[in-house]
Order: sequence, then C-alpha cells, then structure tokens
Amino acid sequence: MAGKKAKLIIDDKTIEFDVLAGTLGPEVIDVGSLFKEGYFTYDPGFNSTAACESKITYIDGDKGILLYRGYPIQQLASQSNFLEVCYLLLNGELPNKEHYEAFCSHITHHTMVHEQIRSFFNGFRRDAHPMAIMVGVVGALSAFYHDTLDIKNPEHRKISAFRLIAKMPTIAAMCYKYSIGQPFMQPQNHLSYAENFLQMMFGTPCEEFKPNPILARALDRIFTLHADHEQNASTSTVRLAGSTGANPFACISAGIGALWGPAHGGANEAVLNMLHEIGDVANIQKYIERAKDPNDNFRLMGFGHRVYKNYDPRAKVMRETCHEVLEAVGAHNDPIFKLAMELEKIALQDPYFVEKKLYPNVDFYSGITLRAIGIPTNMFTVIFALARTVGWVAQWNEMISNPYRLGRPRQLYTGPKERDYVGIEKR
Ligand code: CMC
Repeated sequence: MAGKKAKLIIDDKTIEFDVLAGTLGPEVIDVGSLFKEGYFTYDPGFNSTAACESKITYIDGDKGILLYRGYPIQQLASQSNFLEVCYLLLNGELPNKEHYEAFCSHITHHTMVHEQIRSFFNGFRRDAHPMAIMVGVVGALSAFYHDTLDIKNPEHRKISAFRLIAKMPTIAAMCYKYSIGQPFMQPQNHLSYAENFLQMMFGTPCEEFKPNPILARALDRIFTLHADHEQNASTSTVRLAGSTGANPFACISAGIGALWGPAHGGANEAVLNMLHEIGDVANIQKYIERAKDPNDNFRLMGFGHRVYKNYDPRAKVMRETCHEVLEAVGAHNDPIFKLAMELEKIALQDPYFVEKKLYPNVDFYSGITLRAIGIPTNMFTVIFALARTVGWVAQWNEMISNPYRLGRPRQLYTGPKERDYVGIEKR
C-alpha cells in the first residue's frame, strides 16, 4: 500500500513527497528530492527542519516531555545515575548489573590524561576562559590517542567514547586548577564519577578530601539532566563536523565551541552574571521592563527555550535539587539566591512572560546550584560540556554507524548578480 504523500503546488506543477512517521512526534515531509525540481526549502534557525533520523532522545516541547531512549528524564534523574544514563544513551538499553559494572570500570580506568597534556595548559594565560582551554585541549586529544581514530572501526569508536566521557572531568578540573595556580589532582578510582570530579576540583595534595554526598548527588543529577537534548546547536555541530569524516575528538571540540554561546550552554554563566548586574531585589522590576522592551536587547537569562513552550522538565528536577543544595550548604539567606527566587516569582506572574510561555529553563537553577556547590561562574559551561559529551558521542556514533551523507545546507542567495571585475585604477 502506498504511504502518505504531501503535495506541493508551484504555478501549474505538482510535486509529491513521502510523509514519514516516527514513533513519536510530528510526521516529517521528505523534501530531499526537491532540489532536482529546481527548488530549495528555506528555514533559517531550523524551526521546521528535521536534519536526521535518531533513536536517542525525544522532546515534546509543548507538553514539557524529555525522554532518553524512551525513559522520562524525571525517573532517570531520581532513580538512576549519570554513568548508567551514559550506558543507556550509548547502547540504547539500560545495563544489567554485570554490564553496568564493566562500563563503570572502563570509564574509571580511562580518567587519567597523557602527561604531555599538562604542557598544553602552560601555553594558556592563567586568566584564559576555561571553555577556551577546553576547546583546545579536547581537540588536541586526537594528537595523543592515534590508536582509536579509525571512525569506521566500532571498537575504536567505543574506546574513544570511553576516553571522552572519562577524561572530560579530569580536563575540566585541570582548567580550574590551572586558573587558580594549584597543582592538578589525579583521579581517584575508589570515588564515584561526581565525587571524583569534586575531588579533582577542590582537593589538594596537602590533605585528604571527603566529598559531600549531597553535593556529589546534586552534581550527578546536573550531569544526567544535561546529558543529551536531541538536535540542539552543539549536537548539530558535532553531527555536521562528523559528517565530514573528522575524528571524534575534533568533532567534540567543535561541539564545545558551539555550546559556549549565551543562547545555549553559556546561559548558566550568563544567569549568574545577570543576577550580579541586577544586584538587589529592588531593581528586579526595572530589568523585567528592559526584557520586555522590544528596543532593548536585554533578555532575562535562564528564561525561555527554543523547544519548550511549557515548563522545561529538567528545570522542575533542578529546582528541587537547587533547594536541597542551598539547604545543605546553608545558603538560603545568600542575597544572590534570594534575588533569584524573587526574580523567578515575579517573572512567572508577569503577563509578558506568561503569554510568551517563557518559563525558567534548566540553566536558571543549575547556575544557582553550581554556585552553591562552590563552582566558579566561568566553570559552569565547562560542566555543561562535560555532561553533554556523552550525548554528543552517542549522536555522532549513531550517525557514523548508519548510512549518512556529508551535511551541506543550501542558501537563498541575495548578493550581487555576476559582474565583471574592474581594475583598481578605474574604481
Ligand atoms: N527574555 C525576554 N524575552 C524573551 C526571552 C527572554 N529570556 N526569550 C524569548 N523572549 C521573547 C523574544 O523577545 C520574542 O519576543 P517577540 O515575539 O515579541 O519578538 C519571543 O520571546 C520569542 O523569542 P525567540 O527569540 O523567537 O525564541 P527562540 O526560540 O529563538 O529563543 C532562546 C530561545 C533560548 C534563545 C531565548 O529564549 C533566550 O535568549 N533565552 C535566554 C538565554 C537562555 O536562557 N538560554 C538557555 C536555553 S536552555 C539551555 C540549552 O538547552 O541550551
């Protein structure tokens, strides 16, 4: 039986396309053959364009649903842990006990970085933004791990995935230690993934470091909530870079660059900067008015989302964790946290934000939580990158394991028509 078709009528010509159905979400019109008819589609910002087929993550922005391999994010955040979620994203199913333990052991035994990676850090100024260091150092991993660069070899891809997930916390903590002039801390295999990161961030060789279990759990949850988010800007960047055949470390480095911007992963840092700029509860209304003014490009950072036009499901979980952490560290009375809670209350009641469905997103709460854990603001996006690495790798691997084509968007050209070159003496 013939499948569903869509028809496009241009002047007196009718062009037919297949309509494809996924397991969830809107049907998709396959316009891939349209260029043969002499047309391109035009969709800047990819509002209506599915760029790939994927089985990993599903979002329903209107209903506020986020599923990793079919499992709701709320269940994973409260009942699972980050490494189990990594296994799920990479392999498609939850692990049994034996597979889980083997996976954790692989990750644990890939956490150290090559000694010469330290030399890279010395080339950066101490005040370099840690994201700048991370883009460079992660890209440089391809110069160290030649034994896993054959992207056509599934075993190489698997080990690259282990290396990336395992080494990101080590590199992230090194970025921080370098900036404050303290010695790099080696990973400790008896600690969990999040505890180990806290140890490498806040431990020193001078004394034993005991990670606070509440903070480690909160961090693990932040990692889980940021692990994947289907075809966002950085993931699409990773896929596009991957479609050229580039090695996985180069692709992830490209993703880190794309994540950095304040409209994407840089938002958690931007939230804290904004709260400091607002400074006092008495100034909130002034900033709300600025955010509403079409002639002012100020936006309330941590509010709104391209896909979620309902409460961001990650934000709900993060909000709870945020309060747990504030309680644990006794920061409820900190003026910045009080300001954030007041801003949230006022914005959620303001008709502009209500009508445009601009709810606080995950980064509104993750920024506040990370600050309470003691993570400096310029490390926030680095932590997002650390967590998102598994999503990038899973999406890259899915692409490479299936038939794929070089990503190459087209354009609506509005520049000059062909014209003749004029020598400088005649201009
Ligand atoms: N403050 C004030 N107005 C806003 C905001 C905001 N944060 N976000 C959107 N709007 C307004 C915008 O001005 C526009 O108004 P109008 O229709 O009158 O022109 C309307 O809402 C729709 O905005 P848009 O820019 O068309 O929506 P978008 O889907 O392109 O923007 C966004 C999504 C995330 C870039 C935007 O909401 C934003 O800049 N938010 C602040 C940055 C932020 O928190 N980003 C983190 C996203 S969550 C992390 C992640 O997944 O990467």
